Amino acid sequence: MEEYQPVKVEVFKKDQPVLFNVYLKIGDRFLLYCRKNTVFEAKRLNKLLEKKLPALYILSSEKHLYKQYLNQRLNNLLENKKLPLQTRCELIQEALQDLIESFIKKPQDEILYQKLLFAGLKYGDFLYNTSGAFLSIYPVSVPNSPLLAHSLHVATLALGILRETNFNQENHRTHLAVGAFLHDIAHFYTGFDITQNPKALSEEKQHDYRKHPRDGALKLKELSFFNPLIAKLVLQHEEKIDGSGFPQKLTEKNIEPLALIIGVANAFDKLIIQGTPPKDALKKMLINSVGEYPLDFLQALQSFLKKENLAPL
Ligand SMILES: [Fe+2]
Ligand SMILES: [Fe+2]
Repeated sequence: MEEYQPVKVEVFKKDQPVLFNVYLKIGDRFLLYCRKNTVFEAKRLNKLLEKKLPALYILSSEKHLYKQYLNQRLNNLLENKKLPLQTRCELIQEALQDLIESFIKKPQDEILYQKLLFAGLKYGDFLYNTSGAFLSIYPVSVPNSPLLAHSLHVATLALGILRETNFNQENHRTHLAVGAFLHDIAHFYTGFDITQNPKALSEEKQHDYRKHPRDGALKLKELSFFNPLIAKLVLQHEEKIDGSGFPQKLTEKNIEPLALIIGVANAFDKLIIQGTPPKDALKKMLINSVGEYPLDFLQALQSFLKKENLAPL
């Protein structure tokens, strides 16, 4: 039997061809509403939007085509101010996670890499220029992959922290976003469960866990086109300025500031993943992480969370 799955009505662009069959659900029947490779007419789409239809449906077997379509829509979603913010944020989140996942599955694909760089830059612009975007993106949980959600959340937080520092330049933004998207890339290959507390692991597993920044960076360094600074951010994202981090136990002067920004975002999101409410996570960071990260970055985290209303009392 065919399986169907829901997709948001807003994902479709008016008067553009769709790459897959689109169905309308009436009762428990699925009616073909827009045929594969035909134009989804504005008139027909508007009718559904006016009725505030909760979802359209696609065949599960055509999900890869839907993902391709969503991927093509990403730039438009990042710039399209007409869509309601929450819907737009959810679609951007879905499309970005999908792009990250596609690259991780096929890192040798240079076109995907270029897309990722461009998306990193545009995502920064979107977050900085859209009031309420941080608040809509950050708490949105993602059903199927905690690791992909974490990757995007760390990028989102890191961009927020960067904004409050004097490192905020366009090229830094791109490097930081892509470094954060990929910081735990090694976990995708080993299947490490991000919701686990690494401190609770056996000694042997901890040893393996501590290899993830180096394994990730090595994987990226193999790619001739890959930016070496971004690979370095992946390598150094678990380092701390007092030398208590890993894998190289570096101290402040030898760690890239952008890697430390990712580190702060990563440490904060790990607390959130473990169920700490944001305001308590911030408090913990301000007490326990002093000495591990530069004070101005911790203060930048605090002021960013406050300005964006992300750690309400
Ligand atoms: Fe990590
Ligand atoms: Fe992480």
